[in-house]
Amino acid sequence: MSINKISKKRLSVKQLQSKIDKFPRIKIAHTPTPLEEMPNLTKTLNGPKIWVKREDMTGLVYGGNKARHYEFEMPVIKNEGYDTIINIMDYHSNNARMTAAAANKTELKYILILKNAYNRKIQGNLLLDKILGSELHLLDEKQSINAHDYATKLKIKYEKEGHKVYLLEDHLFPKLVGMIGFVEAGIELKNQIKENQLNNIHIIGVAGRSLCGLIIASKNLGLDWKFTGVTVNYDMPLEGYIFRHNEDIQNLLDVPMTFYETDMKILDNYVGEGYGVMTSQVAEAIHLSAQTDAIICDPNYTGTVMAALIDQVRKKNFNKNETIIFLHTGGLPALFTFSEELASFSF
Ligand SMILES: Cc1ncc(COP(=O)(O)O)c(C=O)c1O
Repeated sequence: MSINKISKKRLSVKQLQSKIDKFPRIKIAHTPTPLEEMPNLTKTLNGPKIWVKREDMTGLVYGGNKARHYEFEMPVIKNEGYDTIINIMDYHSNNARMTAAAANKTELKYILILKNAYNRKIQGNLLLDKILGSELHLLDEKQSINAHDYATKLKIKYEKEGHKVYLLEDHLFPKLVGMIGFVEAGIELKNQIKENQLNNIHIIGVAGRSLCGLIIASKNLGLDWKFTGVTVNYDMPLEGYIFRHNEDIQNLLDVPMTFYETDMKILDNYVGEGYGVMTSQVAEAIHLSAQTDAIICDPNYTGTVMAALIDQVRKKNFNKNETIIFLHTGGLPALFTFSEELASFSF
C-alpha cells in the first residue's frame, strides 16, 4: 500500500513550516540541499529517471542527515543547562562524528563511547572524532556488550565533578528530532520537484527517521509521493527504531498525519552479513554511481540504498514513468574505513 490517498486534513506549506518554526533552532546545516539529476546512471540502467537529494552536502564536517537534526537538538540541550554530552555509537559511526562537530560548535564537552573500536585503524569517522577532540573511549567487543553501563558510570563520574551530563541514549528527543529536520527537507523537495517539473515521485532511502520526516511532509501536504525504505541493520528492528515513535513525533509536531509501516515499501534483503560488513553488491553500487554521475556513496547506508535502487531498476520493479529520488543521507568518511575492500574490488 502507498500513501496515494490524498489527505483531507492537509496543511499548506506555510502551516507545516510554522509547526517546525516553533522549535528553538541554531543554524548549522547548509540548506536547502541541491536536488540533482543522475542522467548517466539513468542511461546506464535504461530505467526510470533517477535524481538525487544531496543531504551529503549539509556541511558539519563532510555532511549528512544529522546536520538538520542538530539544528534542533543542540538548543534543547543547551537550554536545559547541560554542559556535557555522552554518545554511544559504533566505531565507524557518522552520527558520532557529526555530534562531535555540533558539540564543538555549541561549546559542549563531548564524550564518545565507541563500540567494537579497540585496536581499529584510526581512519574515516574515527580519525575525525579524534581531530575534533572528542574524549574517546574505545571499547573492545566484550566491553561493547555493556556499553550503556559503561556510559552510565562515566555520567555519574562527571556529575560528581559538577557537570550536567546528557546521555543521548536515555532521552526521547534525539529519537524524534531527525524527523523534524526532514519534514523541512520535504518542503524543500516539494519546491524543487515543482521547479524541475518532475512527477510520479518515488523516494528511496535508508528506512529511518529521515525518510519518515519526508513521509510526514508528504502526507500532511497531501502529496502523492511513494517511498521505499531500505533496511541497513538487522540489529535495529524498524518497530523500535521508527514505527514505535510515529505518535510521539505527531504529538511533538502537532500535525494531523503521521507515518505508518504501510507508507513505505520496505526492502530488507540488501544487508548481507550485517551492519558494517560491505557486500559486493554495495561495492559495485559505490563504483557505479561514482563512475556515472560522480556521486559517492558510503559502505553502510547510502551504498546499500544505491545497491537496492540499481537492483530494483534492473528487475524493473520501478515503473518506467516514475522519477526516482535517491535520498543521499551522507556517510562519506566511512568510505575510508573500507579502503582496502574498495580498492581491491574489480569492476
Ligand atoms: C549516512 C546515514 N544515512 C542514514 C542514516 C539513518 O539515519 P536516520 O534514521 O536518522 O534517517 C544514518 C544514521 O546514522 C547515516 O549515518
